[in-house]
Amino acid sequence: MAGAASLLDAQTATVPLVDAVLTGGERSAAVDRAAGLRRLRLDSVAASDLECLATGIFSPLTGFLAERDYRSVVSDMRLADGSPWSIPVGLAVDEETASGLREGRELALEDERGVLVGLLELAERYRYDKAEEAKHVYRTEDAAHPGVARLYAQGDVLLAGTVSMLEAPNPTPFDDHKLPPARTRALFAERGWGSVVGFQTRNPIHRAHEYLQKCALEIVDGLFLHPLVGATKSDDIPADVRMRSYQVLLKDYYPAQRTLLGVFPAAMRYAGPREAIFHALCRRNYGCTHFIVGRDHAGVGNYYGTYDAQHIFREFSPGELGITPFFVEHTFYCRACGNMASAKTCPHDAADHLTLSGTRVREMLMAGEPLPLEYTRPEVSAVLIEGYAGRA
Ligand code: ADX
Repeated sequence: MAGAASLLDAQTATVPLVDAVLTGGERSAAVDRAAGLRRLRLDSVAASDLECLATGIFSPLTGFLAERDYRSVVSDMRLADGSPWSIPVGLAVDEETASGLREGRELALEDERGVLVGLLELAERYRYDKAEEAKHVYRTEDAAHPGVARLYAQGDVLLAGTVSMLEAPNPTPFDDHKLPPARTRALFAERGWGSVVGFQTRNPIHRAHEYLQKCALEIVDGLFLHPLVGATKSDDIPADVRMRSYQVLLKDYYPAQRTLLGVFPAAMRYAGPREAIFHALCRRNYGCTHFIVGRDHAGVGNYYGTYDAQHIFREFSPGELGITPFFVEHTFYCRACGNMASAKTCPHDAADHLTLSGTRVREMLMAGEPLPLEYTRPEVSAVLIEGYAGRA
């Protein structure tokens, strides 16, 4: 485990949480006001951004970024006031929509179902340079990159302003696991967890994931298993199948009193290193003291080096992020060791290491073939095979 020394020195920071979820009289008044406002439909990514902003997941952000903040985030990974923030959160619209709007007015926001979900106090409209954002944030201008493709396809004007939420957008079958940061902070305190490691994932928990989570749990008090359930690319395993796989695994292999499962409503950006910082900052807001960053965190294809998402943490001084990264080498099952290992702990060569490509895993699942138990526990394999059969 690289960076283990820093584990002794958890960087906790109690960042004030943004709370812009309207309730009671405030909410009724906002609903009445919204009836007379111009409505704007949010796609699934913008809708999940609204939820993350309003529930404090993106604290200290209170809304879609103003131009000064946007530019500073793109070039320097900081808001204009200097606080770390690595992913621009803007609300993109086309020129025609933007030209019909006025700064200083409120807009009613609806989700893809057409349900009123929030309000935006429009402060600014600005054009932005997509190639510049791609180069800095995604480290590539290649339109084949899923995050870059989305950026190129979106509108040419960004809207900025403070938001409030009237109702959570885009309901999912696992909304019970949507524990907002104020709730998780309280739960961690109730359980007496002084240190909590957060684990981001967009995949089922394979043995490698389990190994690194449990290595971390040997050192800290609690594990916050926090799968992302916002928009992902179409060939990622759907969130409902993944949720079943987490539940079967937690039931039989994790200590209930030291583990909490929550879902992360944010969309996947596939921005590798930049997204690792963003994921860490969000988990800090949930109350985690540590955050696991393994191989090619939030990466896609071959756009990022295996450990780029770890190296980027060096661009911040200790303590600035308010959360300590827990860096882990690429881990695998070694037949000669007879257990999970990494290049740091295993003396054997690659022939003894079990590695399966994502493509091979998908082929096996499509064919209804169980994955090797050294790769994935049988209970998870069964859920995945059923999930794939359902899709076929
Ligand atoms: S991610 O896009 O959410 O990062 P994934 O769910 O695959 O993808 O990974 C979750 C976390 O586990 C990331 O921090 C990733 O770096 C780490 N990880 C995944 N597989 C391995 C592995 N074999 N060895 C070490 N770290 C891994």
